[in-house]
Order: sequence, then C-alpha cells, then structure tokens
Amino acid sequence: MITITEVSFSYPDGTRAMNNLSLCINTGCTLGIIGANGAGKSTLLNHLNGWHIPSKGTIAIGNTIVCKKNLDRIHQLVGVVFQNPDDQLFTARLYDDIAFGPENLGISTTHTAILVEKTLRELELWELRDKPPSHLSQGEKRFAAIATVLVTKPEVIVMDEPTSDLDPKNRRKLINLINTLRLTTITVSHDLDFIWDTCARVCIMNKGEIVADGPAKEILSNSILLESNNLELPLRLQK
Ligand SMILES: Nc1ncnc2c1ncn2[C@@H]1O[C@H](COP(=O)(O)OP(=O)(O)O)[C@@H](O)[C@H]1O
Ligand SMILES: [Mg+2]
Repeated sequence: MITITEVSFSYPDGTRAMNNLSLCINTGCTLGIIGANGAGKSTLLNHLNGWHIPSKGTIAIGNTIVCKKNLDRIHQLVGVVFQNPDDQLFTARLYDDIAFGPENLGISTTHTAILVEKTLRELELWELRDKPPSHLSQGEKRFAAIATVLVTKPEVIVMDEPTSDLDPKNRRKLINLINTLRLTTITVSHDLDFIWDTCARVCIMNKGEIVADGPAKEILSNSILLESNNLELPLRLQK
C-alpha cells in the first residue's frame, strides 16, 4: 500500500506544484492520474521514487518512508518509466541498459543475464539487444525504458505519459502488457481511452490537488467533471 499524507511541494522558484495532497493506493491497484497540463501529475509521480522529497507531509511505500536514507530500498520497490525514454537509456548497447539495474542492486552476473534475457524476450526486444538505444524506433525505446524497470521486479510501476510516442499497434501492445503485469501500476496519461483500458481507479488532479477520485469508468464518463478540469470524454464515448 502507498500512503501519501498531506504532501505539499514547491519548486525552488516558488511554484507550488502539490498542495496538501493525500492519497492511499492499495497493493495491486491500477490507478490512472489525469489532469490538464501543469496540474502537478509529473511532480506527484516524481515523489514516489524519491526524486523529489516533500516540502511538507509524508509518503510511505508499505512501511518504508520515502526519504534520502531509504532511497535504495525505495528504488527497489518503485520503478519509474520517465516521460522521455531518452532519460532512461544511456549506455551504448540496449543489453547494458537493461543489465544496469540488476547489477546496481548487486545481483550476480549469471542471475542478471537470466533476468535480462527473460525481460527482453517478454517485451520482444531480444533481437535488438546489441543495438545502441539511440538507433531504436520511438516505440522500441518506450518498451526498452519499461524493460529497464521491469527487470528488477519492482512492486510498483509508475509511468508518465507512456503512449505519447506509440503507434496504434504498440499502444495496443502496451495495454496488453500492463493488463498482464499484476503489479500496482500508476499511470499518468492524456490518452483517456488508454486509461479506460488499463486502470480500475482514476484520480483527477488540478492545481496540485486531487479533485476527483473513483472507479475509472465512472470518472471517465462524467463529461461535466472532465470539462470542468479542462479534459474531454475518452474518444470512445464521444459522439
Ligand atoms: N523544475 C521546475 N521548476 C519550477 N516549476 C516547475 C518545475 N517543474 C514543474 N514546474 C511547475 O509545477 C507545476 C506542475 O508541473 P507538472 O508536475 O510538470 O505538471 P503536469 O505533469 O501535470 O503537466 C506547473 O505549474 C509547472 O510549471
Ligand atoms: Mg507531466
């Protein structure tokens, strides 16, 4: 269970991006976070693995408080897929990017090799293992970035706008992947049809606060609520 208690956060220039926000996310929950640009979604995600530490309030992953002292444990528990895959892939060979996480956790070379091969095969990237990540297509980069996270078997996976660079076929592949993961997943997306297909619960953020929280299909079909937060119905519900 993830417990966020009265968290506020301001950037050094004074922008208040989270405002006394509280949220509990049960183990195994598939949570979608939606909201207009600048609502604070990425800021919230970046708190879950300790990239940002709250100015006020606390965040706990299970019994582990997110704070500088616990960062190694937090990074084991929570894997974040950044909005831009180029921020996640930094070696000269795809294989090495995927091996980086397990090696960093001190997993033996033999066991790392097993984990990397299994993950690359599951994501249909094994044939590309010797390629430099910079030579991959946007879709391949997206799945590679997800592989860097899944390989260490986190309990929670957090994704920021994961479909922004995917063609319809890869978007479908990602929906199928998420729906087979059986992890706690927290996904930020403007693609509300994608949220509909992958999330059981949805929160709407506005000005650093959660202004609505409920079953995904209820929230996503409430046009008045969506419009008052500068959002629109998923395409499948539009006439
Ligand atoms: N590094 C930063 N420094 C100052 N303000 C920032 C920074 N990053 C984001 N912000 C501001 O914080 C608010 C929330 O941003 P963000 O979390 O990126 O929103 P979202 O992901 O919902 O679009 C916005 O007003 C944004 O301008
Ligand atoms: Mg964002």
